[in-house]
Amino acid sequence: MNDIEERLRAALTKVPPGLAAHVLRVVDEAARLAHIHGIDPEAAKIAALGHDLLRAHSDGRLLTIAEEQGATIDPVDRLEPVLLHGPLAVPILREQYGVIDADVLGAVAAHTTAASRMSRLQKLLFVADKIEPYKADGRSPVQRVRELADSDLDAALRAYLDYHVLVALDERWPLHPNTIAARNELVAAERAVRRAPEPRT
Ligand SMILES: [Fe+2]
Ligand SMILES: [Fe+2]
Repeated sequence: MNDIEERLRAALTKVPPGLAAHVLRVVDEAARLAHIHGIDPEAAKIAALGHDLLRAHSDGRLLTIAEEQGATIDPVDRLEPVLLHGPLAVPILREQYGVIDADVLGAVAAHTTAASRMSRLQKLLFVADKIEPYKADGRSPVQRVRELADSDLDAALRAYLDYHVLVALDERWPLHPNTIAARNELVAAERAVRRAPEPRT
């Protein structure tokens, strides 16, 4: 176990037990997906261990940290400060835990809303966080995301974002611009594939 992993595992002992258990399930899920998709398992592990470092903070605390960090706060973040726990963890992971891998930090930042131009690692963390067994249990749209994740991270991400949009409409939640950008990008990529000419045989 390296230093960063050790420190992140120690940090888990200071968060509520339910959250720590979730993080460890995401670590397992991230390892499984990294193996299937040929993604760096160490990076996946560190991203998973660090992704919810600030998840137990109250809305008020998250907004205070955002102001202290001089972070960009979207109007949707003001309505739903919980969305900030991803991006705000980035400077803390870098400065207090020594995480310097930009892809890992990007994965943590994007795990709450998704974003455009996500890397494979970033998609992996986003999906692993949503499909860990406790969250996928008995919720068929999430179960479908889980099945898709075994073969196609883009399809899994798209299916989750579609589901999220439907729930947001139902619950009257705001939609974060990064979520919309991520979904639009996936739709554009799917259309580009559909329009591509059939290869000549
Ligand atoms: Fe989270
Ligand atoms: Fe999480």
